[in-house]
Amino acid sequence: MKESATAVPESAARQPAIRVHNIEKSYKQLHVLRGVDFEVRPGSVFALLGSNGAGKTTLIKILSTLLKADAGTAVVNGFDVRTDPLRVRESISLTGQFAAVDEILSGRENLILVAGLRHIRQPGQVADELLERFNLTDAGSRRVATYSGGMRRRLDIAMSLIGQPKVIFLDEPTTGLDPKARLDVWKVVSELTDAGTTVLLTTQYLEEAEYLADRIAILHQGRIIANGTLAELKELLPPATVEYVKKQPSLEEIFLALVGEDTSDETTSGARP
Ligand SMILES: Nc1ncnc2c1ncn2[C@@H]1O[C@H](COP(=O)(O)OP(=O)(O)O)[C@@H](O)[C@H]1O
Ligand SMILES: [Mg+2]
Repeated sequence: MKESATAVPESAARQPAIRVHNIEKSYKQLHVLRGVDFEVRPGSVFALLGSNGAGKTTLIKILSTLLKADAGTAVVNGFDVRTDPLRVRESISLTGQFAAVDEILSGRENLILVAGLRHIRQPGQVADELLERFNLTDAGSRRVATYSGGMRRRLDIAMSLIGQPKVIFLDEPTTGLDPKARLDVWKVVSELTDAGTTVLLTTQYLEEAEYLADRIAILHQGRIIANGTLAELKELLPPATVEYVKKQPSLEEIFLALVGEDTSDETTSGARP
């Protein structure tokens, strides 16, 4: 399908914010993505769930134009990542697993720096609003080097909001954080969509997908092997009847039932004899 390269179509609001069709990517012999398909509704949180090495970052890099796919199409905010990478970049932000904050600068200075790069008027005011929103006002004038992991990640997400991107990619936003910091990041992410922002996040944590996402897709062996709301995914497994009490399957049980035949690779469950 062809997308207009000059303007977002009027009906854009009803079109998917992200459309991924048959994306393939190999690194030499390693066929990482083998035909990935999904769509993300505007203003929703979509979780891409997969084990370490499943190809989540590879896909995020393709969608944010940092990497070219070998085959397939991806359209973000109505713009094709292959033919219109500049427009895609203007309408997205990307927060990686490793925070992109400058350690030497304070939190406030980091925000002002990014606001300046994006030609925002009144960068100081924007910085102060974001510090407040992300509960960093007290730490705002301190060097980032003194921040905890959770504070850095919050600052990183705050920086990614400058310029009001329509689509935000969060690549494993809570990996490496302690449970308290993880909860803080969850809170921040769950508020992002209030302003109509679309969030695509990747995670290895089932409970993170369960907590945050409107829809969850499981990436396994290069393909999306399940895609739905939590309720839909739960229907993939019938409830087990234990002593006449119906027990709903957890997302973890669904995940393991779907991918469980091969726990040989990078999966960390390690429960197999
Ligand atoms: N630049 C690269 N060159 C070669 N192999 C890579 C490269 N980047 C990633 N890989 C490999 O591709 C697979 C998928 O990686 P990645 O997309 O980072 O997975 P995930 O983010 O789900 O952990 C892994 O086996 C990884 O080692
Ligand atoms: Mg990754």
